[in-house]
Amino acid sequence: MKLWGGRFESGPSAVFERFSGSLDFDRRLIEADIRGSQAFARALERAGILTAEERGEIVTAFDQIRAESVHPEFFAGAADEDVHTLVIRKLKERAGAVADKIHTGRSRNEQVSLDTRLWLREECGDLQALLCGVMGRLLGLAHMNSGAIIPGYTHLRRAQAVLWPHYLLAYFEMFHRDWERFSEARRRANVLPLGSGALAGSGFPIDREAIAKDLGFDGITRNSMDVSGDRDFALDFLYACTITMIHLSRLAEDWILYSSDEFGWLELGDGVTSGSSLMPQKKNPDSLELIRGKSGRVMGCLTSLLVTMKGLPMTYNRDMQEDKVPLFEAADQVSGSLLMMSAVIDSTKLNPVPPATAAAESWVVATDLAEALARAGTPFHQAHQIVGRFVLESIRSGKKPSDWTAEEMQRFAPEFTGDFAVLLDPKQGMRSREIPGGTGLLAVASALAEAKERLGKLIV
Ligand code: ARG
Repeated sequence: MKLWGGRFESGPSAVFERFSGSLDFDRRLIEADIRGSQAFARALERAGILTAEERGEIVTAFDQIRAESVHPEFFAGAADEDVHTLVIRKLKERAGAVADKIHTGRSRNEQVSLDTRLWLREECGDLQALLCGVMGRLLGLAHMNSGAIIPGYTHLRRAQAVLWPHYLLAYFEMFHRDWERFSEARRRANVLPLGSGALAGSGFPIDREAIAKDLGFDGITRNSMDVSGDRDFALDFLYACTITMIHLSRLAEDWILYSSDEFGWLELGDGVTSGSSLMPQKKNPDSLELIRGKSGRVMGCLTSLLVTMKGLPMTYNRDMQEDKVPLFEAADQVSGSLLMMSAVIDSTKLNPVPPATAAAESWVVATDLAEALARAGTPFHQAHQIVGRFVLESIRSGKKPSDWTAEEMQRFAPEFTGDFAVLLDPKQGMRSREIPGGTGLLAVASALAEAKERLGKLIV
């Protein structure tokens, strides 16, 4: 079936039909399309275009179509141009002539915007729930080794000692921001476009505010031309997806490293790793590598729609039909990756000895020493110099921090008085980092409690 054709002398060619049809992918919007059309039928009744009886027939027919649509054979052999056309054909088959009125003053341009918004706001909620799952598991893992010390890195070089929970909380914050971004994406999508017509506004007095209420939208869009040419809400969603994947990808990269023989910090469960067809000893972190790999695909989805939209003349252009493939693809990859990451976290165990040793045997305490000198009165630049020379001397003579005694330190630099030697243990220096957001034991304990409370408020 077509929703147009009167002004044509012959039908579309087979190649054009094949090329332009979108049912293969936009069938995923069927639930949204039916919901939107039912609300539109109620609006047409309020506008005096449908009688109560006609509206009743249409709404009931749509309920039946919805129930049928969950069976795969529903779509078998369908040759409709898109999901909107298919839904109207099914309505005609069920409800007969009255179906001819459902599209009064409505355009597929606004309908596709409506359907996508309805779908997208559900999807935001689903992804937010999965994000909460990952965040909760990070907190769980933090509690399992709340006192473990690891070297924190900059430039992938050991920098300063931090608590293992402090490291995990950093990812908690990233995923929390992602949660907020999906809230924002949902908020932006949650505005009713219906009533915009093709581009100039509906020619019928439909009560837009009433439809908005009916469908649970926060309000109505303000300009019909904007609606017709707008995919910002899809881009906002794709951006939120992309940043989430970047965070997942960075966590994956960390853990691929941390679970390697070279690091030896983490043991990933058998259930999320795989072996080699040739090398019998291998246990590979494929789940994490795939999360990292899929992040590229999601970034590609954002890029794809950005490029599609750039330079389109006002208002609707058929190019915009291409938005759905990247939207669905991104949503699926993000939800799959969040689920996978949850399973990885569940399976992961920290072996606290190697990271503690890595911290103790390196010079992550250098900053602690320099800051202690500064606290004792040595200007910081001089303190930095003194500790720099101390580290250089240690490297030359092959000494680890624990190889120094208090007397030797003082002989090296008279500024190292009293208790400086205790700072050679990374645990000690962390005590000076009780600032909010820092890695001090108490600061991290309260950050953990605060994060738990914040997460509790997200899960509603
Ligand atoms: N399938 C189309 C899309 O996704 C619906 C809009 C069709 N509008 C048109 N003017 N051809 O964008």
